[in-house]
Order: sequence, then structure tokens, then C-alpha cells
Amino acid sequence: MAFYSEEVIEEVKAANDIVDVVSSYVNLRRRGSTYFGPCPFHREKTPSFAVTPDKQIYHCFGCGEGGNVIRFIMRAENLGFQEALEFLAERAKIELPSTDFADAGMTQDELRLRDYHKKQMYEINREAGRFFYSNIEKSEKAKEYIKKRQLDKSTVIRFGLGFAPSDNGLTKLLLEKGFKEEDMLATGLIGKTDRGMLYDKFKERFMFPIFDVMDRVIGFGGRTLESQEEMKRQHIPKYVNSPENLIYSKGKHLYGLNVAKKANAKMKRIVVVEGYMDVLSPNQVGFTNIVASLGTALTESQGRLLRKYAEEIILSYDSDAAGQKAIERGIEVLQSLGVSAKVLQMEGAKDPDEYVLKYGLERFEKLVDNSISAIEFKVKTLQSQYNMNDTTDKINFLNKMAAILAKVDNNMERDIYVDKLSSELGVGKEAILAEIDKIAYKDKAKLMNWQKPIPISTDKKEETSAKSSDIEEMIIFLLCEKKRDVFEKMKTVILPEDIQNETNRNLLTKLYDEYENGDINTIDVTNICKTDEEFSRLTAILMKENVVSDSYKVLDEVLKTFSNDKIQKKRKELLEKIKTASDAERDMYTKELADLNSHLVKRD
Ligand code: CTP
Ligand code: MN
Repeated sequence: MAFYSEEVIEEVKAANDIVDVVSSYVNLRRRGSTYFGPCPFHREKTPSFAVTPDKQIYHCFGCGEGGNVIRFIMRAENLGFQEALEFLAERAKIELPSTDFADAGMTQDELRLRDYHKKQMYEINREAGRFFYSNIEKSEKAKEYIKKRQLDKSTVIRFGLGFAPSDNGLTKLLLEKGFKEEDMLATGLIGKTDRGMLYDKFKERFMFPIFDVMDRVIGFGGRTLESQEEMKRQHIPKYVNSPENLIYSKGKHLYGLNVAKKANAKMKRIVVVEGYMDVLSPNQVGFTNIVASLGTALTESQGRLLRKYAEEIILSYDSDAAGQKAIERGIEVLQSLGVSAKVLQMEGAKDPDEYVLKYGLERFEKLVDNSISAIEFKVKTLQSQYNMNDTTDKINFLNKMAAILAKVDNNMERDIYVDKLSSELGVGKEAILAEIDKIAYKDKAKLMNWQKPIPISTDKKEETSAKSSDIEEMIIFLLCEKKRDVFEKMKTVILPEDIQNETNRNLLTKLYDEYENGDINTIDVTNICKTDEEFSRLTAILMKENVVSDSYKVLDEVLKTFSNDKIQKKRKELLEKIKTASDAERDMYTKELADLNSHLVKRD
């Protein structure tokens, strides 16, 4: 049986919006950010079947059925996982790979075979890079483009740029060199017609090889040389990129990092941009600590990669809506990795490429120096959404601001913003501080309501009280927010065996495993579910909206409960022991007890 990699599965999911898919089975109506309709899986009068576009899950509050889009199709069409995936791929016109090795559970032989294929793919990409480079000289169009983009010969060489001709030259070359069809197809550089003919997939495109940090060519981006008008008229995509495969995964690499790494022994800061040209132009004038995430928001893998090479990451994305969203996401990823994030602000040009060509190196360096902090960026974004001359808007803005500032741990930094806000809005400092306190307090109060200490008991039934299950669900909710620092802190206190409900315990164990061994940031958390109970529980937890405005504060409270609970348990054990202990033992236990008491966290 062929099995598909995570990447392929995610690609299929991404191409099938859950609201779209469910809508062909159920009549959905929007209420707030959620869609509701009658449940297709059980009979009901009032619509309790919910679908959320942002989380891409469904959950029926009536029968408990829930999951992602693949599970929905499995249920609705009565299909197995594989078949449901194929059904959705077909629906979105995605071609599934015929075989896919990228999965676990392989034998030694299979692993060896996979390594062999990988090697072949690196070889093919390298040959392709050389081939494309050698074609620049033969193409007037390519030379013209290089001139138009003001690229020097040295830049072209350093980044191995090239041109893909339209005559299937690469296919011919690779066959001559004796590469196997299977490996050629696997790189995505070569395609095959229904009649079995091989052909070059990149044609008439300007080629940017993508290197990994070990300087191996892992893929390509190819830019059309057609004009803006022709692109529109003929629906030609501006860039075509190598597909995800054994050696290339878009979210795991950064364009230009190999060059940046070589040019700078140790980087204090590194700028992250969107596109190929935004790396090249700055490099050409001598700004080398710059990489591109290639048109997507920064992933956790990329964040971790960057963390190895630089202390501070400066995000410089386009100022359009997509760019701003990518910055917000990037900030979140970096903060969860404990990396300091800043945002570069640009005026007078649409991207770093254009800016550098227009204003030169020094002014670009100034822009980098003047990057604003992540908080300042959030404040600015918020400010632009409200009209400060409108009283209602002003109040709403203040509330939102207070929520952002309630999360700033550094008192000094917080004070600076409060001062600024106060003078800009003409609102007293005290009023703003009171607002912040209110929010900080609300988070805590919400938790206090259901986090009364769990009674110590050896009776299993009593232990799984409603309150403890609420806390457990909150813990899982926090883990699903994909904040790595939340996880790091949580795992030091909460162990899987501390979780009393079996389903919750299974979910927590798997989530912990994703944080430790997987790539939590890119997975769909519902992937961890195996049983009906797990799907039902997790989707119910995810459907809870806006439960917490500050996960760190809630986490602190949860951890306090857990550590106190653990201590209480130990105390109880000690007290039992003391009852029957000898004098000498009693002294020892009493000391231990006093020690434990001093560790109990006070709760106000
Ligand atoms: N991109 C992509 N596929 C597309 C469009 C964009 O992969 N169809 C990626 C490319 O890595 C590109 C980046 O997103 O470099 C930014 O896209 P965009 O801002 O549209 O292009 P520029 O980089 O400004 O392209 P150019 O300067 O070549 O016009
Ligand atoms: Mn550009």
C-alpha cells in the first residue's frame, strides 16, 4: 500500500477548506466566527454541528463527533483514510505522488534505499543547477533580465542563477548522464506525459537554485520572464517552485542562509525577507546577513534554524495584508522559541530589493537599525485599525492595547508604552494601568473559579472530579496553542501520569511527543487523534473560543495547582508515615514535611 507523507497530507488539507467541503453536505449558517448546521451524523432538530474556518475542524455538540476535513470525508463518504485523502486530492485537482518513502517505520534496507535515492536527487539538482547556469549565455532574454534586475556577474555566480530553456534540454542531459527516471521525476524538475514522454517542467524561466546550509542544491524557484500583462492574461504564475520531496521541504529551509553563514562568522542579527530578489540585491551591495522564507510566514523549523545563527531576527515582509499577517505569525513563532523579534519598516519602496536599488546600502542599514520591537509593531497595527477621533473606537482601542500590555512582563517597557499611550490619547496613566490590571485579574479569576485544589483521595472516582477535568482540558488547550515556551515550562511540572482522565492523558502524551520529536508548529493538532473519543475530546476543546487572553498567566496558575497538588500528596503520605514511625524516623519525616510546606505556593 502506498502511503503519503505529512507534507502531502497537509497539502491536500490546505487545498480543501473545511467550510467548503462540509457545505456540500450540510446547510451551514455563520454565527460569529463559527458555522452551524444540522449534524449529518445524528438526527437532531436544533443545529449543533459546528465548523470553524480558522481552525479547520468540525465538532458536533450533540453527538460529540469531531475532526478535521479528512475525518469528515471518511465519515460522510464511509471511506478509509487513504481513500478519503484521494477523494479530497481529486476534489482539489492535486496529483498525489505514486510512491512516497518519507515516513517512519522503515526497515534497514528501505532506509538504505531511501538514502540512495536522496543522493541521486542531490546529484540531479546539482547537474540541473550547472545546466541552467550554462544556459544564461545562450539566451538573450535571460541576459536582458539580468541587466534589468541589475544583477552583477559575481552575484549570478555566487548564487548560481540560471535560465531554463524550452527545449527539454535538461531531460536529455540527465538521461545521457544515466539518471533513472524515478529519481528524475522525484525532484520535480522533470515531468512525464500520459504517453510516457519525459519533459522539462521548468521552461523559459529564470532559475534561482535553493541551497541548504551544507551548500547542496535542494530545489529551484523559477521566475517567468513574461510581462505583468502577459502573466495576467495567460494566468502564468510569477514563480514556480520545486515541489516538496525527499530532500526539499519549503518550511524547513531558508533561501540565502548558506551564503549568509559563510559571510558572517557570527551574526548578531539577521533579516528575514519574502523573496529571492530581496536576498540578492542587498547581498550585492554588501548586506549579507539576510535570508528569505520564500513567500510564506516563518515556520518553527526555520525559526530554530535561525536561532542557531543569530541572536536577533528582523522581519521584513511586504506591507500588504498578507505580509502583515506573516509578520504577526512570525513574531509568535519567534517569541515561542525565545528569540528576540523585530520588524523592519519601509517607506518609499515595496520590498528590500527595490529599496536597495533605489537608496543604497547605507540607508538600508539605517532601516535595519531602526527596526521596531515586536510590541511596538503590535501597537502600531492596532492603532491603524481604529479612528482615534471616535470615542467608541478609542475605548475599544484602549481595551485591546491593555490586553497587549498586560502580557508585557518587563515593567519598564510596559511603563514606556503606558506613558506614550497616555499622552497620545489624552487619557490618564492611572486609567490605563487600571485597565491592564483588570485584564490580568480577569485571566486569573477565570482560572480560580475552576481550579480549587483537587481533593486528595485514594478513591479513583472521587479524583476525576469535574473540576480536575476542566483543568486538564485547559492544559490541552494551552498545548494546542503551539507556544513552545509554554510547553517547556509545563513539562517540568506536569507529567502524563498526573493527568487522570485517560483520553486527556493520551492527548497530552501525544502533544508532548510532538513538541519533543515532531514539528508542532506545522502539524494539524487533530493529527494526534486516533480514537473516536480523542477526536471528540480534542475538537470540543478546540471549539472553546477565547478561553484565555493570556496563556502565560493561565499556565502559571495551572502549574501552581499542580505543584501544590503534588506537594499535598506527598504531605499526606508523610503524615501517614509519621503516625506509625519510630522516633528517629519521625524527626526525619517532620523535617521533610517542613521542607515541603515551604515549597507550597501561596495563592491569593
Ligand atoms: N512566490 C512564490 N510563488 C508565487 C509568488 C511568489 O513562491 N507565485 C514567492 C517567491 O519566493 C517570491 C516571494 O514569494 O520571491 C515574494 O513574491 P512577490 O512579492 O510576488 O515577488 P517578488 O519577490 O517581489 O518578485 P520579483 O521581485 O521577482 O518581481
Ligand atoms: Mn520584488
